[in-house]
Amino acid sequence: MPCWHLPGISTLCAAIACLLVPASAAPQYTGSVVCKTCHPNIAVDFYKNPHYKSIASGSEPPERTGCEACHGPGSEHVAAKGDKSKIIAFSQLAPKQVLDNCLRCHAESLGRANIRRSSHTLANVACNSCHSIHKSPVQKFLLAKEQRDVCYGCHNNVRAQFAQPFKHRVNEGFMTCSDCHNPHGADAVNYAMGARPRMVTAALNNEEPCMKCHTDKRGPFAFEHPAVRIEGCRSCHVPHGTANTRMLKRPVVFTLCLECHNGADSFGRDAAGVFLTPPTHNMADPRFRNCTTCHVRIHGSNSSVSFLR
Ligand code: HEC
Ligand code: HEC
Ligand code: HEC
Ligand code: HEC
Ligand code: HEC
Ligand code: HEC
Ligand code: HEC
Ligand code: HEC
Ligand code: HEC
Ligand code: HEC
Repeated sequence: MPCWHLPGISTLCAAIACLLVPASAAPQYTGSVVCKTCHPNIAVDFYKNPHYKSIASGSEPPERTGCEACHGPGSEHVAAKGDKSKIIAFSQLAPKQVLDNCLRCHAESLGRANIRRSSHTLANVACNSCHSIHKSPVQKFLLAKEQRDVCYGCHNNVRAQFAQPFKHRVNEGFMTCSDCHNPHGADAVNYAMGARPRMVTAALNNEEPCMKCHTDKRGPFAFEHPAVRIEGCRSCHVPHGTANTRMLKRPVVFTLCLECHNGADSFGRDAAGVFLTPPTHNMADPRFRNCTTCHVRIHGSNSSVSFLR
């Protein structure tokens, strides 16, 4: 191990390396120090990599230590002076093989429990599409780029959504995509009638991710608005960004309300519905169109069954 820490004598190491490596039928583990002799650029920074821990600890078995933990036993590759077909070269692997390789160690983590059935895996997006083991400029989680730029690389339409006038400030660095999404796949949700999960992470109690931050919208309220409780935030809001104030789905509030409160049967607790012409809610009178000037507690109220206060 000593020459690992002394870059000056790597030529000597190379000579020793060739002597140390036995010529035998099955490829053997050589130890990372051997790799360093011919791949100094990669090895020089490797002490900063979280995967260096296996070398530092010195207590892992060879198949879980250093370079060969991912690239497999290297003796034949070394003996052939770097034949790429005699080592696990990720540039030659199919996405599924990459996945299997990394999951030997990373499968037990709960955060990736759903990785195999995630939309990314099903679409052949493997670990190294987002992570760069050797060239991560940000280092954090070994991402290939700043997180949002990793995602925008493939989801360019989403970039435009976060550039809208009313948006969550992901581009400004106040939030990340992973505040709401788990790129490794998420559990099935039980809100919004189990609508397509979209790899959205759940807050506590399997609630919408929005509840991680907007806890005041959860209540519990004495008088809940079922639109919030059952259909969920997305029935009125666009999660990324829109041209509408308050990130609402529609530019004018009452058109949003009228999607449900349209005079059809059974809206209103007495099942009378809101009709569009009676004097109390006459839509021809502009005064009544701004629903939330009166129904101010639109997410739920503890004192007014009609969310008036
Ligand atoms: C955690 C798994 C892992 C470990 C540990 C690892 N590598 Fe890699 N290596 C990869 C992956 C994945 C790639 C493919 C390129 C990428 O995604 O960064 C790669 C690419 C390479 C390449 C190709 C050149 C390049 O930059 O793409 C070489 C050479 C290499 N690794 C050598 C090493 C050496 C030497 C070590 C030990 C110091 C090592 N690797 C440790 C996963 C690993
Ligand atoms: C005697 C020099 C030498 C040693 C020692 C050596 N390599 Fe290599 N390695 C090379 C050369 C040269 C290449 C480039 C082969 C090519 O591009 O066809 C290479 C290519 C690779 C690649 C393929 C990169 C890709 O995806 O194209 C990986 C991975 C790799 N080496 C890992 C290792 C590991 C791990 C070790 C230690 C077990 C190691 N090497 C030891 C010379 C060496
Ligand atoms: C031999 C076991 C092993 C293999 C194989 C392995 N890893 Fe790791 N990985 C680890 C360990 C151990 C850590 C450090 C965990 C810690 O810091 O507690 C780690 C950490 C990471 C981290 C977290 C970095 C951070 O900042 O928290 C990422 C990302 C990662 N690995 C990706 C990968 C990818 C991608 C592959 C496949 C190319 C891979 N790993 C293969 C054992 C492995
Ligand atoms: C679509 C992009 C993407 C893919 C594919 C991906 N990751 Fe990640 N990964 C991320 C992002 C983004 C983070 C940072 C999450 C955060 O900020 O909380 C991360 C974090 C991690 C971490 C550290 C945090 C944790 O959850 O323990 C590990 C380890 C990891 N990924 C391993 C993997 C492995 C192994 C694979 C393949 C089986 C993989 N990732 C596939 C984007 C991805
Ligand atoms: C505030 C939480 C939140 C943040 C932050 C967020 N998303 Fe989303 N995203 C969602 C929700 C909720 C959905 C589901 C929308 C639906 O089904 O109507 C979604 C849907 C998606 C979809 C699938 C639908 C589509 O528009 O194609 C993609 C892709 C996506 N998000 C990518 C991203 C990326 C990339 C980022 C970071 C740049 C990001 N998201 C940040 C909450 C968020
Ligand atoms: C290498 C390309 C690639 C990268 C990088 C990537 N994605 Fe994806 N993403 C895809 C593909 C392909 C799909 C599946 C097809 C689709 O639904 O658009 C997908 C689907 C999604 C979905 C929709 C899931 C669903 O069930 O509808 C979300 C959300 C998402 N990605 C978020 C992210 C986030 C967050 C990141 C960054 C951490 C990211 N993606 C990085 C390619 C990528
Ligand atoms: C990580 C924390 C976080 C999560 C998760 C989150 N938000 Fe936000 N949200 C914020 C912050 C902080 C603001 C303040 C506005 C800003 O950033 O400029 C905000 C603002 C808003 C606004 C008001 C915008 C305005 O114009 O006043 C709405 C509506 C909103 N979020 C809805 C949602 C919905 C719906 C979800 C779930 C899909 C969600 N948020 C998830 C942090 C979060
Ligand atoms: C029935 C439609 C509807 C649903 C469902 C809904 N909202 Fe709202 N939300 C509104 C309206 C309308 C406004 C603007 C109120 C105003 O302008 O006075 C608003 C404003 C907001 C604001 C900014 C102003 C404030 O009160 O802080 C946030 C944050 C917010 N909503 C978060 C959420 C979250 C989180 C959810 C899901 C738990 C949710 N909303 C569900 C209609 C809804
Ligand atoms: C996704 C459908 C949906 C949307 C959009 C929606 N609501 Fe509701 N709202 C409901 C349902 C369902 C009830 C409960 C009806 C019942 O209890 O019979 C309700 C109840 C109410 C009540 C209480 C009725 C009572 O019993 O006194 C008021 C007030 C109300 N909504 C106002 C609004 C306003 C204002 C908006 C627009 C900002 C809005 N709603 C948007 C579905 C919706
Ligand atoms: C000028 C204030 C005001 C405006 C604006 C207003 N409402 Fe109301 N709304 C009330 C009051 C007060 C009540 C409770 C007494 C009643 O039933 O008339 C009520 C009751 C309701 C109810 C419950 C009716 C029932 O049958 O129990 C619903 C639903 C409702 N409003 C929806 C709306 C919608 C949707 C809009 C916008 C299109 C709107 N309101 C605009 C004052 C207003």
